[in-house]
Amino acid sequence: MSFFADRNHELHVEDVPLSRIAEQFGTPCFVYSRAALTAAFQAYDEGFGAHPHLICYAAKANSNLAVLDILARLGSGFDIVSGGELKRVLTAGGDPQKVVFSGVGKSETELREALATGILCFNIESESELQRLARIASDMGCTAPISLRVNPDVDARTHPYISTGLRRNKFGVSVEDALRLYHYAHRTSGLRVTGIDCHIGSQLIELAPMQDAARKVVSLVDKLAKEGISIEHIDFGGGLGIRYTDEAPPDRGQFVQMLLSCVGDRQYKIMIEPGRSIVGNAGILLSRVEYLKHGQEKNFAVIDAAMNDLMRPALYDAHHDIRTVRGKKAAVAVYDVVGPVCETSDFLGTDRALAIAEGDLLAVMSAGAYAMSMSSNYNTRPRAAEIMVDGSSVHLVRARERIDDLYAGEICLPD
Ligand code: LLP
Repeated sequence: MSFFADRNHELHVEDVPLSRIAEQFGTPCFVYSRAALTAAFQAYDEGFGAHPHLICYAAKANSNLAVLDILARLGSGFDIVSGGELKRVLTAGGDPQKVVFSGVGKSETELREALATGILCFNIESESELQRLARIASDMGCTAPISLRVNPDVDARTHPYISTGLRRNKFGVSVEDALRLYHYAHRTSGLRVTGIDCHIGSQLIELAPMQDAARKVVSLVDKLAKEGISIEHIDFGGGLGIRYTDEAPPDRGQFVQMLLSCVGDRQYKIMIEPGRSIVGNAGILLSRVEYLKHGQEKNFAVIDAAMNDLMRPALYDAHHDIRTVRGKKAAVAVYDVVGPVCETSDFLGTDRALAIAEGDLLAVMSAGAYAMSMSSNYNTRPRAAEIMVDGSSVHLVRARERIDDLYAGEICLPD
């Protein structure tokens, strides 16, 4: 079911026409659907049935407090990668006992804060990190729950920049090192081994690499059990892809079934860390056409959103569908849809057939994940507003930045 659909020749988010949102809040802005978010979360949740599980939404995909709040209310946990994300999760009402902390570079301060907060688990990515955490925990007189992120050396067959499960990537520890480090953690006071985790990449379209990785992790868990190290949970990470245009990723239910069958009748709690597959198709970027420019070789639609709002096309050559908000009588032409930023890579889409006139609204689709959370102020552009639609209600969930906010912390030299 699509929560973004044409009604009376106009694109709506749930029950709200996008033109109304543009009028009220201006453009560019991100518009999210609460129902889409909820449905995506529930598809995972229901897939697990009675098997003990915890879905830890990867906050990096979209960390707006309203998004975190909606998910927390549905019972979601959170995968965080910084002290900043921890603060956001707690501010939004997330339960610290449902938080896992991933990332290769957790600082001393971040580890201390997370330990003091009492999070569920530290997903450890190196021997040095494990030693640092053991020292901090004994310093603080407490015990740190840990899991080792295993790098299963599996090719996730996705864009190389978002592939994480190969030996040459910076993430996790090898299966061989994991065995040794589990023994070290097991005998070290200040550390309590509670789980294992892996995450092989993002926007994964095929089930096979995920299944390969899951099997490797489960067989390592069996080996650990034989060696007297028992864990409580297996965290299979995130990574399930979404449809941006014509991709056909497995659905959430199939993904969960695959995990359940890898775990079999073993009694471990299963955890996952989905980000994109929860929010990606629950949001769009709404923008207005400033100029139509007909060059010698190309036509350009210059819109008021840019690479600073959505950098995925510039960074990964990613494709996002672009739709007109209202059917127009304008002639169809093929455009590169570009922003005002002074870079040739500032495009939201290339070679798109669109029937548009200056002043029209466009929706850049599938912009709920890794869009606002990766946005910047390049070219001193204030970041866009964010809107959450809930049925026929419209809520501003992040005000558009003001220009003065952008240099509020800057200081000129004294005379
Ligand atoms: N867990 C860990 C440890 C991760 O590193 C990530 C994503 C996730 C979970 C969530 O993965 P997801 O379910 O969203 O695929 N900026 C890129 C994506 C980077 C993903 C980074 N890690 C993009 O725009 O495609």
